[in-house]
Amino acid sequence: MCGITGYIGTRDAVRTAVQSLHQLEYRGYDSAGVASAAGGCIRIVRATGKIAALDALLEGSAVTSGAAVAHTRWATHGRPNEANAHPHQDCLGRLAVVHNGIIENYAELRHSLRRRGHEFASETDTEVLAHLLEERLRTSPTADDLLAAVRATAAEVTGSYAMAVVCRDLPDTIVVARQDSPLVIGLGAGENFLASDIPALLPYTRSVLVLEDGDVAEIGPNRVRITDAAGQEVERKPMEVTWDASAAEKGGFTHFMLKEIHEGPVAVRETLRGRLMADGAVELPDVAITPEQWSHVRRVIIVGCGTAYHAGLVGKRLMEELLRRPVEAAFASEFRYSDPIVGAGDLALFISQSGETADTLAALREAKRRGALTLAVVNAVGSTLSREADAVLYTRAGPEIGVASTKAYLAQVAALACLALYLGRSAEASADARAALARSLAALPEALAACLDRSDEVAAVAQALGGHSCFFYLGRGYDFAAATEAALKLKEISYIHAEAYAAGEMKHGPLALVEPGVAVVGLCTQAATHEKMLSNLREVKAREGTVVALINDSREAPPEVDHLLRIPETHSALTPIPALCTLQLLAYYVALARGCDIDQPRNLAKSVTVE
Ligand code: F6R
Repeated sequence: MCGITGYIGTRDAVRTAVQSLHQLEYRGYDSAGVASAAGGCIRIVRATGKIAALDALLEGSAVTSGAAVAHTRWATHGRPNEANAHPHQDCLGRLAVVHNGIIENYAELRHSLRRRGHEFASETDTEVLAHLLEERLRTSPTADDLLAAVRATAAEVTGSYAMAVVCRDLPDTIVVARQDSPLVIGLGAGENFLASDIPALLPYTRSVLVLEDGDVAEIGPNRVRITDAAGQEVERKPMEVTWDASAAEKGGFTHFMLKEIHEGPVAVRETLRGRLMADGAVELPDVAITPEQWSHVRRVIIVGCGTAYHAGLVGKRLMEELLRRPVEAAFASEFRYSDPIVGAGDLALFISQSGETADTLAALREAKRRGALTLAVVNAVGSTLSREADAVLYTRAGPEIGVASTKAYLAQVAALACLALYLGRSAEASADARAALARSLAALPEALAACLDRSDEVAAVAQALGGHSCFFYLGRGYDFAAATEAALKLKEISYIHAEAYAAGEMKHGPLALVEPGVAVVGLCTQAATHEKMLSNLREVKAREGTVVALINDSREAPPEVDHLLRIPETHSALTPIPALCTLQLLAYYVALARGCDIDQPRNLAKSVTVE
């Protein structure tokens, strides 16, 4: 997501913080900014686009000693423009804040701050932090006062944050806090550094303190004092980083794809944050569709390309199950030229990670032209799709760098499940059915973490499968929807031919292809069709294909399989999420065994902006 850096010491604080920011460029961002506290004032410089634009603005400016915090923003609230770029300030211009994460209760806080006379200069959630701090800081505050103000502000907000604050009265202090968003302090001699990710620190130091959730810390050139949420001083032991810079960019993972698969639990948790309530109700406060508009929706059409379309296939089943209304799913490239029957009364959903896919955009324009209500389910804030649709439901997976989409798919399915619960709140599906789905949805981050804990088992299966020349992924119902994405993942990064089939279709032709050297991955997570899946796998085994079964933890291992992959129990409609986490890992390890260029597979681009 966004990046934070900071510096305090005798170097040029602004330039050091900004140079450090360059080490985080690989994460993707849309604007950058820096704030320094020196000479009794706060100075802020911000630019949209690349950090180079910020460098250009700083060129020739005087050296700043003191404290500086810098930020790369990847928009979550408000468009990617200069006003929304961090750092943000209070009304008096006494302090500046940078922040990663999402403040869930920002709308209420903003409303009450406004009533108390605060004026806002941006559309961001972050700015509420600056105004809340302003109310808690007396004139000429000490470092202790700032620490206490940050702690009290942190207690007032809900959501995730890593924040860093500088104050014009305290040029030798930076105060930071973290909750559910990483923050590390780099230790130097007579200087200290701050970053959201270790790579930013590596040009300067390898001695790193990793803050824990609830920590609030005060950093000076020669001091780091950490307190817990209750204000008690705590000790965090520094660690010595031994990775090289490129491994550190990937968080110690060998590829961005692997790192992003491991970010799946966070991507899903962030997507649900502030939408799925503790009582199982779903609220979509950020989706600009009025109750009146929702009430006119008679039919849903889901449109996307590649992985996004595959997420749509899960969404289609889920919505039909909950709403008991027909829901269609279409490839954007087909929809746009199909003279589609779409118009008033239809909700057309456009799913996209980048929000820039040419076919999806053209399909959106066509649906709008014909009078449908359009909703974009998009990851990239401020993208063309998000701007052109009537409303947006953001997946909050963070930037995806590996060409093969991984965490974005998980977040898309989670967002569609939220939408299904929201649309189905007054539909025929029983309250019990909705509550069961909501409970499983809330438990998904843990289920995904459990899948990731089994990476070694998946890698061992992949090792055994690497020599196969052809893969089938079979499933029924939700498993078939998941199989389409699993097959795409394998083919795009390993270059092995892989196809998804509705398991019942095998006998109608494709079974002719099964012979030794062909691997068949059977997704067997659906109770209603479990026995049927097993008999499909027996048919494969009888023709000497290699059989891999993906089953729920509660199931006994079927005798006819060569390899077994297990996933934690979840609601049947949500199994594509843990299933894909495991099958993304499988594709990754097969491609790794074959020595493929995993993050940039041949012939493919991350964003397909041409037809
Ligand atoms: C596959 C993949 C592609 C994209 C497709 C749509 O791993 O990434 O199939 O899903 O090009 O891209 P977006 O979601 O950006 O519209």
